[in-house]
Amino acid sequence: MIQSSDVETILNNDSSIEEGVFETSIRPQIFEEFVGQQQLKDNLSIVIKAAGMRKEPIEHVLLYGPPGLGKTTLAHIIAKELGSNIKTTSGPAIERAGDLAALLTNLSEGDVLFIDEIHRLNKVIEEVLYPALEDRVLDIMIGKGPGARSVRMELPRFTLIGATTRIGLVSAPLRDRFGLVYHLDYYTTEDLEKIIERSAKILNTELAPEAKNLIARRSRFTPRIANRLLKRVRDYTQVSGHDKINTKHASESLALLDIDEFGLDKHDRKILTVIIESFGGGPVGVNSIAAATGEETDTISDVHEPFLIRSGFMIRTPKGRQVTDLAYKHLGITNKENKIF
Ligand SMILES: Nc1ncnc2c1ncn2[C@@H]1O[C@H](COP(=O)(O)OP(=O)(O)O)[C@@H](O)[C@H]1O
Ligand SMILES: [Mg+2]
Repeated sequence: MIQSSDVETILNNDSSIEEGVFETSIRPQIFEEFVGQQQLKDNLSIVIKAAGMRKEPIEHVLLYGPPGLGKTTLAHIIAKELGSNIKTTSGPAIERAGDLAALLTNLSEGDVLFIDEIHRLNKVIEEVLYPALEDRVLDIMIGKGPGARSVRMELPRFTLIGATTRIGLVSAPLRDRFGLVYHLDYYTTEDLEKIIERSAKILNTELAPEAKNLIARRSRFTPRIANRLLKRVRDYTQVSGHDKINTKHASESLALLDIDEFGLDKHDRKILTVIIESFGGGPVGVNSIAAATGEETDTISDVHEPFLIRSGFMIRTPKGRQVTDLAYKHLGITNKENKIF
């Protein structure tokens, strides 16, 4: 039922159809259900109320942070709180200027346009987007060659919500056009416990408090992973003929997924091991790590590195990534000075 290769799907950013249904069923719909990120929620609630009083759309919003922290969820909540329709797309899906023009001209007054992975928009399309964001106009070229002319179209008042895992790859001119920029931070164990508890209720599953804590601590500070682990543990519990999830079920099923007590999976451990064994502990660039581990550079930068840094296993220096003493200790490897931990 659980195989070690399943661990891939725990970290995967894309959802299968079955998982899409699961995610939708437990996805928070309103601010009150959205756990944690208190400052961000307070701030956004005020912005939304004020805009409502002025009967105006809110400024364009940029949400950034690692995968699975709630960017897409928040975009939908914002639209709902605004009482607006939301149209969703993503950076790579908008291939030509015409695709963007079609999206923009189909918007109605007050609509929210959500562009996921906005750092992957191509530059030509960004240029078309600027006047749309700033002046709510769209300049489109009609015809080709010497006879081509530009036509200006007025657009309805809309709000763009952009999401990205890589704020550093969003060009400065694009970033400047967002009036509201929010960083989603990793979640505390306490918040993850609340999320797991809420999801367990929706899934009609009983959960011992220690099991909840165990799952929360292995969730890489990430709600999406907390929910995925809960689902795996629930399956495991059911198959072993029980209704209520206890610590034994939780730790046994997570061991099958090869997730250790710090929430590290085999890829995290491989990255740390390679830095130690092939690069003397670092500093080393991300491309070299990718080449030596066979992992994708983007996955290392988006998924593994922020988590390893947050957990204290790695630091970023101007010269590259370096592992910490904690990494040596955790992997049971003696470090350069032959210090034994
Ligand atoms: N603050 C939160 N409270 C409760 N559940 C959350 C929260 N943030 C995310 N989730 C859950 O995690 C899943 C992934 O969130 P999502 O918005 O898709 O992340 P992102 O777009 O940042 O990758 C959602 O289905 C939702 O159920
Ligand atoms: Mg998303």
